[in-house]
Amino acid sequence: MIKLKVNGNNQQFDGDPEMPLLWYLRDEIDLKGTKFGCGMGLCGACTVHINGQPMRSCSTPMSAAANKAVTTIEGLSADGTHPVQVVWQELDVPQCGYCQAGQIMSACALLAKTPKPTDAQIDSAMNGNLCRCGTYLRIRAAIHKAAEMTASNKAAKPATKASRVGASLLPNKK
Ligand code: FES
Ligand code: FES
Repeated sequence: MIKLKVNGNNQQFDGDPEMPLLWYLRDEIDLKGTKFGCGMGLCGACTVHINGQPMRSCSTPMSAAANKAVTTIEGLSADGTHPVQVVWQELDVPQCGYCQAGQIMSACALLAKTPKPTDAQIDSAMNGNLCRCGTYLRIRAAIHKAAEMTASNKAAKPATKASRVGASLLPNKK
């Protein structure tokens, strides 16, 4: 039996340990925000965090998620108010939207590691997340804006409830 945590909730899985994590998320526990694109680790649509690292869930077997903490787009916030999600909405980043859950998960992982990324660091970190609608420039702008929001919220003291919207770029922990 494989035990794992998904978005803060304990889960267990009795099936094939080679089954892709993406199948489990979408079909077994009904988290449909993570998308299937290529199924071969090439497009980034299925990106989730495993112990904080961005991973392609289509090419990650369940065995690799054993005893790990998985975060999906649904785990970033209960109501779409994670700072990266807020900025994504403010800048109207998505076009068709299909790739965007994966884009946001990669962006969050980048910002957690590199709070003020350069264009080159953004391009490098987001390189594996493809967007057929070509929203790359808006994605880059949104990552810069999320970084600025977080930096200014940290500088403001004492933090107000409103300012805390950007206080953490890490997913909510339950
Ligand atoms: S669906 Fe996983 S990388 Fe494309
Ligand atoms: S917004 Fe359509 S594929 Fe990226």
